[in-house]
Amino acid sequence: MKKVSKLAIFYFSGTGNAKQIALWFSEYAGKQGIDCRLCSISTADPITTIHSDTLIIFISPVHGFNYPKITLDFIRRFPKGNNRVVLMCTRAGMRIGNIATPGLTGIAFFVSNLLLRTKGYTIAGQIPFDMPSNWIAIHPTLSRKTVRFLFETNFSHVQKHAEQIFAGKKDFLSHRDLVQDVLVSPIALGYYIAGRFFLAKQFYASAQCNNCGLCINQCPVKAIKRVGGRPFWTFRCESCMKCMSRCPQKAIEVAHGLWLVLIILSSVFTPVFFLIIGFLYRLQHLLLANRFFGKIITFTSLTHYKIWGKGNPKSNRIEQQYA
Ligand SMILES: Cc1cc2nc3c(=O)[nH]c(=O)nc-3n(C[C@H](O)[C@H](O)[C@H](O)COP(=O)(O)O)c2cc1C
Ligand code: SF4
Ligand code: SF4
Repeated sequence: MKKVSKLAIFYFSGTGNAKQIALWFSEYAGKQGIDCRLCSISTADPITTIHSDTLIIFISPVHGFNYPKITLDFIRRFPKGNNRVVLMCTRAGMRIGNIATPGLTGIAFFVSNLLLRTKGYTIAGQIPFDMPSNWIAIHPTLSRKTVRFLFETNFSHVQKHAEQIFAGKKDFLSHRDLVQDVLVSPIALGYYIAGRFFLAKQFYASAQCNNCGLCINQCPVKAIKRVGGRPFWTFRCESCMKCMSRCPQKAIEVAHGLWLVLIILSSVFTPVFFLIIGFLYRLQHLLLANRFFGKIITFTSLTHYKIWGKGNPKSNRIEQQYA
């Protein structure tokens, strides 16, 4: 067992959880005298030279029981090599009493493990971290107390796993979840083929938007363009929640009203579903320019309400926590 002396961490993060885990590992590596390189997947070039002695870590959130497309594309384009690799993910952690409830990894590790092994790498570990769920399109924001609890829990997990993998040992915590990961794999495929395109059209900018352009400039996959003088989400969006969490005006909402219409229509017009999503999203975009319809769309967005966390000082405002 050879101790690790060089480390390269490649991370993708929408709202900061995966980045935080990457930072904790890199700080711990620094304390151990390990030479560590930290690279963001949204800006790094996968065609990069890495010494064969280097331990490589990939870390990314799970989206729809898989790594998001941006992470999978990066791993797919990663050059061949024979390094040891540890795969990590951050998932939707919640809290019941003093227990951090786990999210679900699904096929994220299976797919990337396979891709990297065909390139010659050795997989030395697969470790999930249950950080605060950021999927506030489907649930209200978590309380600050819960977020703090999950951060503290994961901080101690990082130390434990860092000791193990930096000592050159294997660490396959993910094997614990094998059964449920296999069970959700059909849903993961459904999400990758169709679900993510549905979600790509969930966001809109409300009347609070002052057109600052931050969301357009900072989107890791360049999914937002300006149409009719206001932000417009294209099918490229990966629903990473970064734009929503960073908007200085808190103007980005999830159109739950449109969700409802789409769910009803999808059962009737399945073959032309994507045409309908595209058409209805554009129609909603046009209607947003009108004050009356803009108000109706905002009132039917759960993310607009205090009960969902907006403007509630006791709730975790992701834009404050992850800034
Ligand atoms: C569109 C979307 C899909 C998600 N799917 C899953 C999932 O399948 N399983 C899970 O455990 N968490 C899921 N989550 C939660 C995130 O993976 C989790 O909050 C993660 O820690 C976010 O990391 P980040 O802050 O680095 O982006 C999802 C979140 C979003 C926004
Ligand atoms: S970041 Fe917010 S305020 Fe700025 S353009 Fe985007 S939606 Fe509008
Ligand atoms: S549009 Fe927003 S949610 Fe979609 S990928 Fe870009 S930053 Fe993420």
